[in-house]
Amino acid sequence: MAKLYEGKAKIIYETDNPDEVRVLFKDDATAFDGKKKGSIEGKGECNAAISARLFEYLEGQGVPTHYVERLSAKELLCRQLEIIQVEVVARNVAAGSLAKRLGLEEGLVLDRPVLEYYYKSDELGDPLINRYHIRLLELATDEQLDELDRLAWKINELLYEFLDERGLRLVDFKLEFGLDSEGTILLGDEISPDTCRFWDVESGEKLDKDRFRRDLGRVEETYQEVRSRIVDA
Ligand code: TMP
Ligand code: ASP
Repeated sequence: MAKLYEGKAKIIYETDNPDEVRVLFKDDATAFDGKKKGSIEGKGECNAAISARLFEYLEGQGVPTHYVERLSAKELLCRQLEIIQVEVVARNVAAGSLAKRLGLEEGLVLDRPVLEYYYKSDELGDPLINRYHIRLLELATDEQLDELDRLAWKINELLYEFLDERGLRLVDFKLEFGLDSEGTILLGDEISPDTCRFWDVESGEKLDKDRFRRDLGRVEETYQEVRSRIVDA
Protein backbone atom coordinates (compact mmCIF):
# COMPACT_ATOMS: atom_id res chain seq x y z
CA MET A 1 0.00 0.00 0.00
CA ALA A 2 1.14 3.56 -0.71
CA LYS A 3 3.34 5.51 1.65
CA LEU A 4 1.46 8.56 2.90
CA TYR A 5 4.23 10.20 4.90
CA GLU A 6 7.74 9.52 6.11
CA GLY A 7 8.98 11.24 9.24
CA LYS A 8 12.24 10.98 11.15
CA ALA A 9 11.21 7.96 13.22
CA LYS A 10 8.10 6.52 11.53
CA ILE A 11 6.56 5.79 8.13
CA ILE A 12 2.78 6.01 7.62
CA TYR A 13 1.16 3.75 5.00
CA GLU A 14 -2.42 3.74 3.79
CA THR A 15 -4.63 0.69 4.32
CA ASP A 16 -7.80 -0.62 2.63
CA ASN A 17 -9.77 1.40 5.15
CA PRO A 18 -9.58 5.19 4.48
CA ASP A 19 -10.03 5.84 8.21
CA GLU A 20 -7.00 3.76 9.23
CA VAL A 21 -3.24 3.86 8.61
CA ARG A 22 -0.33 1.49 9.23
CA VAL A 23 2.46 3.08 11.27
CA LEU A 24 5.94 1.55 10.91
CA PHE A 25 8.48 2.43 13.61
CA LYS A 26 12.06 2.87 12.34
CA ASP A 27 15.40 2.34 14.07
CA ASP A 28 16.54 5.76 12.73
CA ALA A 29 17.25 8.35 15.38
CA THR A 30 17.80 12.08 15.01
CA ALA A 31 18.30 14.93 17.45
CA PHE A 32 18.71 18.71 17.39
CA ASP A 33 16.35 19.23 14.43
CA GLY A 34 17.87 16.37 12.51
CA LYS A 35 21.44 17.73 12.77
CA LYS A 36 22.52 14.61 14.67
CA LYS A 37 21.68 11.39 12.85
CA GLY A 38 22.07 7.77 13.82
CA SER A 39 20.39 4.43 14.20
CA ILE A 40 19.47 2.54 17.36
CA GLU A 41 19.22 -1.19 16.73
CA GLY A 42 15.87 -2.54 17.97
CA LYS A 43 14.40 0.92 18.65
CA GLY A 44 11.54 0.46 16.16
CA GLU A 45 10.34 -2.71 17.87
CA CYS A 46 10.77 -1.28 21.35
CA ASN A 47 8.91 1.95 20.57
CA ALA A 48 6.08 0.12 18.80
CA ALA A 49 5.64 -2.23 21.76
CA ILE A 50 5.92 0.54 24.39
CA SER A 51 3.51 2.85 22.51
CA ALA A 52 0.96 0.05 22.03
CA ARG A 53 1.03 -0.80 25.75
CA LEU A 54 0.70 2.83 26.85
CA PHE A 55 -2.06 3.62 24.33
CA GLU A 56 -3.99 0.52 25.51
CA TYR A 57 -3.61 1.60 29.11
CA LEU A 58 -4.73 5.19 28.39
CA GLU A 59 -7.73 4.01 26.31
CA GLY A 60 -8.74 1.79 29.24
CA GLN A 61 -8.67 4.89 31.44
CA GLY A 62 -10.91 6.89 29.11
CA VAL A 63 -8.35 8.78 27.00
CA PRO A 64 -9.30 8.66 23.29
CA THR A 65 -6.27 7.61 21.20
CA HIS A 66 -5.58 6.75 17.56
CA TYR A 67 -4.39 3.25 18.48
CA VAL A 68 -6.34 0.31 17.01
CA GLU A 69 -4.05 -2.74 17.27
CA ARG A 70 -0.52 -4.06 16.93
CA LEU A 71 0.04 -5.51 13.45
CA SER A 72 3.59 -6.83 13.82
CA ALA A 73 6.75 -6.24 15.85
CA LYS A 74 7.30 -2.78 14.35
CA GLU A 75 3.83 -1.83 13.11
CA LEU A 76 0.66 -0.45 14.65
CA LEU A 77 -2.73 0.01 13.05
CA CYS A 78 -3.99 3.48 13.92
CA ARG A 79 -6.90 5.77 13.07
CA GLN A 80 -6.10 8.29 10.34
CA LEU A 81 -5.76 11.75 11.88
CA GLU A 82 -5.45 15.28 10.67
CA ILE A 83 -2.63 16.29 13.02
CA ILE A 84 -2.98 19.52 14.99
CA GLN A 85 0.32 21.34 14.37
CA VAL A 86 0.99 21.94 18.06
CA GLU A 87 3.24 19.73 20.19
CA VAL A 88 2.09 19.67 23.80
CA VAL A 89 4.90 19.13 26.33
CA ALA A 90 4.14 18.36 29.98
CA ARG A 91 6.88 18.62 32.60
CA ASN A 92 7.12 17.37 36.18
CA VAL A 93 10.84 17.90 36.72
CA ALA A 94 13.17 20.53 35.19
CA ALA A 95 15.27 19.07 32.36
CA GLY A 96 16.23 19.71 28.75
CA SER A 97 15.11 22.97 27.19
CA LEU A 98 13.16 24.12 30.27
CA ALA A 99 16.24 23.89 32.48
CA LYS A 100 18.27 25.72 29.83
CA ARG A 101 15.71 28.44 28.99
CA LEU A 102 14.89 29.37 32.59
CA GLY A 103 18.30 28.63 34.16
CA LEU A 104 16.93 25.88 36.40
CA GLU A 105 18.97 23.01 37.71
CA GLU A 106 18.20 19.75 35.95
CA GLY A 107 16.32 17.54 38.41
CA LEU A 108 14.49 20.35 40.23
CA VAL A 109 11.00 19.02 41.07
CA LEU A 110 8.41 21.50 39.80
CA ASP A 111 5.93 22.44 42.56
CA ARG A 112 3.27 22.53 39.91
CA PRO A 113 3.71 20.72 36.59
CA VAL A 114 4.14 22.89 33.50
CA LEU A 115 2.49 22.63 30.07
CA GLU A 116 4.12 24.11 26.99
CA TYR A 117 3.19 24.33 23.32
CA TYR A 118 5.59 24.12 20.39
CA TYR A 119 4.74 24.93 16.78
CA LYS A 120 5.37 21.83 14.64
CA SER A 121 7.52 23.40 11.94
CA ASP A 122 10.83 21.91 10.84
CA GLU A 123 11.84 25.12 9.01
CA LEU A 124 11.38 27.18 12.17
CA GLY A 125 12.90 24.54 14.47
CA ASP A 126 9.66 23.87 16.45
CA PRO A 127 9.54 27.20 18.36
CA LEU A 128 7.92 27.56 21.78
CA ILE A 129 4.55 29.31 21.35
CA ASN A 130 1.64 30.39 23.54
CA ARG A 131 -2.17 30.53 23.24
CA TYR A 132 -2.07 33.86 21.44
CA HIS A 133 0.31 32.50 18.82
CA ILE A 134 -1.91 29.44 18.37
CA ARG A 135 -4.90 31.74 17.81
CA LEU A 136 -2.89 33.97 15.46
CA LEU A 137 -1.75 31.03 13.32
CA GLU A 138 -5.17 29.34 13.64
CA LEU A 139 -3.52 26.07 14.66
CA ALA A 140 -6.44 25.16 16.96
CA THR A 141 -9.60 26.79 18.27
CA ASP A 142 -9.78 27.89 21.92
CA GLU A 143 -12.15 25.00 22.61
CA GLN A 144 -9.78 22.50 21.02
CA LEU A 145 -6.86 23.90 23.01
CA ASP A 146 -8.83 23.59 26.26
CA GLU A 147 -9.44 19.95 25.36
CA LEU A 148 -5.72 19.39 24.65
CA ASP A 149 -4.88 20.87 28.07
CA ARG A 150 -7.47 18.70 29.80
CA LEU A 151 -6.24 15.53 28.07
CA ALA A 152 -2.55 16.37 28.63
CA TRP A 153 -3.08 16.83 32.39
CA LYS A 154 -5.09 13.62 32.62
CA ILE A 155 -2.44 11.71 30.62
CA ASN A 156 0.29 13.11 32.89
CA GLU A 157 -1.46 11.85 36.01
CA LEU A 158 -2.19 8.44 34.52
CA LEU A 159 1.26 7.88 33.04
CA TYR A 160 3.10 9.22 36.07
CA GLU A 161 1.50 6.60 38.31
CA PHE A 162 1.74 3.75 35.78
CA LEU A 163 5.45 4.40 35.21
CA ASP A 164 6.25 5.01 38.88
CA GLU A 165 4.98 1.49 39.62
CA ARG A 166 7.54 0.24 37.09
CA GLY A 167 10.47 2.17 38.58
CA LEU A 168 10.40 4.96 36.00
CA ARG A 169 10.11 8.63 36.90
CA LEU A 170 8.20 10.58 34.25
CA VAL A 171 10.27 13.78 33.99
CA ASP A 172 8.59 15.23 30.87
CA PHE A 173 6.99 14.15 27.60
CA LYS A 174 5.63 15.41 24.29
CA LEU A 175 2.16 14.67 22.91
CA GLU A 176 0.58 15.18 19.52
CA PHE A 177 -3.14 15.22 18.90
CA GLY A 178 -5.28 15.09 15.78
CA LEU A 179 -8.82 15.10 14.49
CA ASP A 180 -10.46 11.95 13.13
CA SER A 181 -12.93 12.02 10.21
CA GLU A 182 -15.70 13.06 12.62
CA GLY A 183 -13.66 15.92 14.08
CA THR A 184 -13.07 14.16 17.41
CA ILE A 185 -9.74 14.92 19.10
CA LEU A 186 -7.61 11.80 19.59
CA LEU A 187 -4.13 11.36 21.05
CA GLY A 188 -1.80 10.49 18.17
CA ASP A 189 1.88 9.89 17.37
CA GLU A 190 3.80 7.71 19.87
CA ILE A 191 4.65 7.54 23.56
CA SER A 192 8.15 6.14 23.91
CA PRO A 193 11.67 6.89 25.16
CA ASP A 194 11.99 9.05 22.00
CA THR A 195 9.23 11.38 23.19
CA CYS A 196 9.48 11.16 26.98
CA ARG A 197 12.19 11.53 29.61
CA PHE A 198 12.30 8.59 32.01
CA TRP A 199 14.70 8.51 34.96
CA ASP A 200 15.22 5.42 37.09
CA VAL A 201 13.30 6.00 40.34
CA GLU A 202 16.15 4.63 42.50
CA SER A 203 19.36 5.73 40.79
CA GLY A 204 18.18 8.69 38.71
CA GLU A 205 19.84 7.14 35.66
CA LYS A 206 18.53 8.51 32.34
CA LEU A 207 16.53 5.81 30.53
CA ASP A 208 15.45 7.59 27.33
CA LYS A 209 16.66 9.22 24.12
CA ASP A 210 18.91 11.62 26.05
CA ARG A 211 21.39 8.70 26.05
CA PHE A 212 21.58 9.14 22.26
CA ARG A 213 21.27 12.95 22.23
CA ARG A 214 24.06 13.37 24.78
CA ASP A 215 26.23 10.34 23.84
CA LEU A 216 25.78 8.69 27.24
CA GLY A 217 26.29 5.12 25.99
CA ARG A 218 24.15 1.97 26.59
CA VAL A 219 21.57 3.35 24.13
CA GLU A 220 20.22 0.04 22.72
CA GLU A 221 20.21 -1.58 26.17
CA THR A 222 18.20 1.33 27.55
CA TYR A 223 15.38 0.96 25.00
CA GLN A 224 15.23 -2.79 25.78
CA GLU A 225 15.18 -2.08 29.52
CA VAL A 226 12.30 0.36 29.21
CA ARG A 227 10.41 -2.06 26.95
CA SER A 228 10.76 -4.86 29.46
CA ARG A 229 9.66 -2.67 32.38
CA ILE A 230 6.60 -1.33 30.55
CA VAL A 231 5.51 -4.21 28.33
CA ASP A 232 6.49 -7.33 30.28
CA ALA A 233 5.52 -6.05 33.72
P1 TMP B 1 12.93 19.48 25.52
O1 TMP B 1 13.32 19.58 26.96
O2 TMP B 1 14.09 19.23 24.60
O3 TMP B 1 12.07 20.62 25.09
O4 TMP B 1 12.01 18.17 25.38
C1 TMP B 1 10.83 18.03 26.14
C2 TMP B 1 10.23 16.66 25.90
O5 TMP B 1 9.77 16.54 24.56
C3 TMP B 1 11.20 15.49 26.12
O6 TMP B 1 10.51 14.47 26.84
C4 TMP B 1 11.54 15.02 24.75
C5 TMP B 1 10.38 15.43 23.91
N1 TMP B 1 10.76 15.87 22.58
C6 TMP B 1 10.23 15.25 21.45
O7 TMP B 1 9.45 14.31 21.58
N2 TMP B 1 10.58 15.71 20.23
C7 TMP B 1 11.45 16.75 20.05
O8 TMP B 1 11.72 17.12 18.90
C8 TMP B 1 11.98 17.40 21.21
C9 TMP B 1 12.93 18.54 21.08
C10 TMP B 1 11.61 16.94 22.45
N1 ASP C 1 13.68 14.09 16.90
C1 ASP C 1 13.98 15.48 16.97
C2 ASP C 1 14.80 15.99 15.82
O1 ASP C 1 15.62 15.32 15.19
C3 ASP C 1 14.67 15.96 18.18
C4 ASP C 1 14.75 15.20 19.47
O2 ASP C 1 14.02 14.27 19.72
O3 ASP C 1 15.59 15.63 20.27
O4 ASP C 1 14.65 17.11 15.50
